[in-house]
Amino acid sequence: MLHSFFYLLALGSLGRATPLPEHVLHRDTDTTVSANDCPGYTASNIATTDSSLTADLTLAGEACNVYGDDLKDLKLLVEYQTDERLHIKIYDAGLQVYQVQESVLPRPKSKNAKASGAALEFSIEENPFSFSVTRKENGEVLFDTSDTPLIFESQYVRLRTKLPDNPNLYGLGEHSDSFRLPTQNYQRVLWNAESPFIPRNSNLYGSHPVYYDHRGDKGTHGVFLLNSNGMQININKSDEEGQYLEYNTIGGVLDFYFMAGSKPAEVSSQYAEVVGLPAMYPYWTFGFHQCKYGYWDVNYVAEVVANYSTAGIPLETMWTDIDYMHLREDFTTDPERFDMHKMRELVDTLHNRDQHYVLILDPGIHAVANYSVYQKGHEQGVFLKAADGSDYLGVQWAGTVAWPDWLNPKTQDWWTDEFKEAFNPETGIDIDAVWVDMNEASNFCGDEKCDPVKDNNGNPPAPKNPPRNNTGRIIPGFPADFQPNGTPTKLRLRGSKPLKSRQNGEAGGMKGLPDRDYFHPQYRINNHNGALTQNTILTNITNIDNTRQYDTHNLYGHTMASMTRTAMLARRPSKRPFVLTRSTFAGSGAKVTHWFGDNNSTWSDYRVTMPQMLAFASLHQMPMVGSDVCGFNGVADQYMCARWAMLGAFQPFYRNHADITAPVQEFYQWELVSEAAKKAIDVRYRLMDYIYTGLYYQTTTGVPVINPLLFLYPNDANTFGIDMQYFYGDALLISPVTQDYSDSVTFYLPDDIFYDFWTHERVDGHGETITRQGVAYTDIPVHIRGGTIIPLRSSSANTTKALRQQNFEILIAPGQDGKARGRLYLDDGESLVQEKVSEIEFEWDGEKLLANGTFDYMGTGGESALVSKITLLGQSEEVQDGNFNAEQGSLEVRGMWELSGGFEVKVGA
Ligand code: GLC
Repeated sequence: MLHSFFYLLALGSLGRATPLPEHVLHRDTDTTVSANDCPGYTASNIATTDSSLTADLTLAGEACNVYGDDLKDLKLLVEYQTDERLHIKIYDAGLQVYQVQESVLPRPKSKNAKASGAALEFSIEENPFSFSVTRKENGEVLFDTSDTPLIFESQYVRLRTKLPDNPNLYGLGEHSDSFRLPTQNYQRVLWNAESPFIPRNSNLYGSHPVYYDHRGDKGTHGVFLLNSNGMQININKSDEEGQYLEYNTIGGVLDFYFMAGSKPAEVSSQYAEVVGLPAMYPYWTFGFHQCKYGYWDVNYVAEVVANYSTAGIPLETMWTDIDYMHLREDFTTDPERFDMHKMRELVDTLHNRDQHYVLILDPGIHAVANYSVYQKGHEQGVFLKAADGSDYLGVQWAGTVAWPDWLNPKTQDWWTDEFKEAFNPETGIDIDAVWVDMNEASNFCGDEKCDPVKDNNGNPPAPKNPPRNNTGRIIPGFPADFQPNGTPTKLRLRGSKPLKSRQNGEAGGMKGLPDRDYFHPQYRINNHNGALTQNTILTNITNIDNTRQYDTHNLYGHTMASMTRTAMLARRPSKRPFVLTRSTFAGSGAKVTHWFGDNNSTWSDYRVTMPQMLAFASLHQMPMVGSDVCGFNGVADQYMCARWAMLGAFQPFYRNHADITAPVQEFYQWELVSEAAKKAIDVRYRLMDYIYTGLYYQTTTGVPVINPLLFLYPNDANTFGIDMQYFYGDALLISPVTQDYSDSVTFYLPDDIFYDFWTHERVDGHGETITRQGVAYTDIPVHIRGGTIIPLRSSSANTTKALRQQNFEILIAPGQDGKARGRLYLDDGESLVQEKVSEIEFEWDGEKLLANGTFDYMGTGGESALVSKITLLGQSEEVQDGNFNAEQGSLEVRGMWELSGGFEVKVGA
């Protein structure tokens, strides 16, 4: 079904909840105003320098006021910031319209490149105003706004660009759609929302307004719109209007960064220059993680840990969901079920076994007296305020909650203090990482009419899913007295305290226009929750800096996560923080990481993990991502869970997690899944340094650790739509079975040399698909791309610490020219600032392996920096020299080579 732009507009007006003001609906002719009647703007006072252009834009006729009031005077700023980056900004002359705070997203510095030397060219049409961006090298027009007039209103901004037919567009997350975006009748809504079951074609938890446009051998470029307002991006093609992409925002300015590429991975790097390079993560975070909502006491948690070791499945990190909290309050433990003494014993035991522990926090702070976290926050004025100056309230797990204002610097001090106290290694719970959730923000108080203080019966909302009884079992592997002591602690007295009032300030410089309809802007973005305010913080609420949630809603999770990182750092300044957040915004990757939220235990959601991972890792600069393995909601069955255990092992963040209502799904619950998980974890661990090296280079250059096929084969049109296969690192092509209960997979092999990872057999790709039958549930097809060198550990281990004591092996997979290259990065795995690192480049020149680079990290505490085996793939019997493995067609040379300096090893006759 084709929806034209006019149809979408009609939907927008039909769905309006409040009648429009007279001047919007009717003109002299008494006909409904359409966006295409808008007059557009005229450019004047154009001034240019070598590297910039400025102009005034003036409304070119009678205001159309289609979804608000047209702004009469705008400014245009164009900067050639670098040879590859063009900045184009259209904003209000009065500087009243909201712009994302520099403190939230610091802008990249312009290097004042010369327009003459830049890869992109900006052109302006003065009347009616429009602009275009062209790739100079080949004259390719990348962006052209001349088809429709610019609309810039108080609550609606529209800009459309023409595109070539059937374009290859990627990005604009977070979504659960295909990696290559549909090109017709497709809407991307960016409005962070609680999104159970990760609905398709919908806004989800995060907003990343950046797209990549891949034009094969004509190059790839990226377009980032730095705007946090709710928006709907329509991608469509119709006979009358051609192919286009259209931004419709409900506020903010048009602040574009064009990145010239011209290779896809170069666009990624250039995007990282704008929003920040991603953070580096501790080595151990690549281990396997287990979580579940509903591990209802500390013994249950310990039992799961013990069950993993009994099953012989390496568990690196145990997580505890909100079950641990006392009445679902942050920074508390349930005195009976998660008694502090037992919690400390649990964490000590885990740490003694070289395992790790993570806890969850939610933003909603239970608003009751005698809960010191709330009291202190209230006294320090860190919560968002209602119009009367009282703490603005909502409902989350604990019941009635106040919402921290993450734009208030004081919130940082309060949050950090709570971290230091609750997670004090000497007296509290010595967590290794932290998980922040529900920060879209998700508000159980549904809408404007909801009363957060009383439920339907007039009672305060009770905590959701109250904890169950202790299990009280003795746990193998834990101290013999590890049982709940069961001493009930007196419940706190609840009551309310008079709240101090605070004056809400007036809107000021770039803080948002005054007098807007904050709840029901006339242009309706298609939020899957309905109205903007549905199940979140009301959008009229003012932040400490006098900006409004209407403009900053999409930043709530990002700012919470970012303050949480700072709190983790304050508590442990020398270690890399790991903060997992549900809600994100462009630039979140510089600080924190993300999982894909409350998916389903279905084959469909198993498949969706691939495009989601590709988008976050390769496009949005958030590489350390993954899904809830085996699915969060619903019932996981063993076949799906076995496949997911295998696939998850080839995604950066690897955590099994399920809902409280879901049956248990730890890998050890089924024999088949145990077998799959053991194999998957074994190989994941052996490859850990390879992927850690890849992550390191993404954090220093922006070149993605995870590669969609088109990133490595940008001229092969067959790869442009592939998202059920991908490269883990730049050498390993993962082609999992994707169909429900199937044992066959049809996958694509580009025109290149490959080697089967498991058998080492050479497989020549011809730019065609191959069908593999009989793929067991404990198997996953993996191919090594010719031309690469992979460092592996010689064997796996039970923990990542023990893994680091294993020697290395080097696997050489020669390419079409008989040569290969690879890298290995070594450091201590956890320090924020590394004193000594090794950055080793391996090269196979056809005869010998050369290792060059820096060799300063030699390992501590029994860690190995030795290579004990070198394997050269793709050999035939003629070149054998006694080390020939006929079955695998490889030469194996054993020895000991120290990674303490460059070396050369001749392999073969
Ligand atoms: C949210 C999270 C989920 C968590 C649950 C309880 O639904 O997305 O991962 O288990 O809250 O805290």
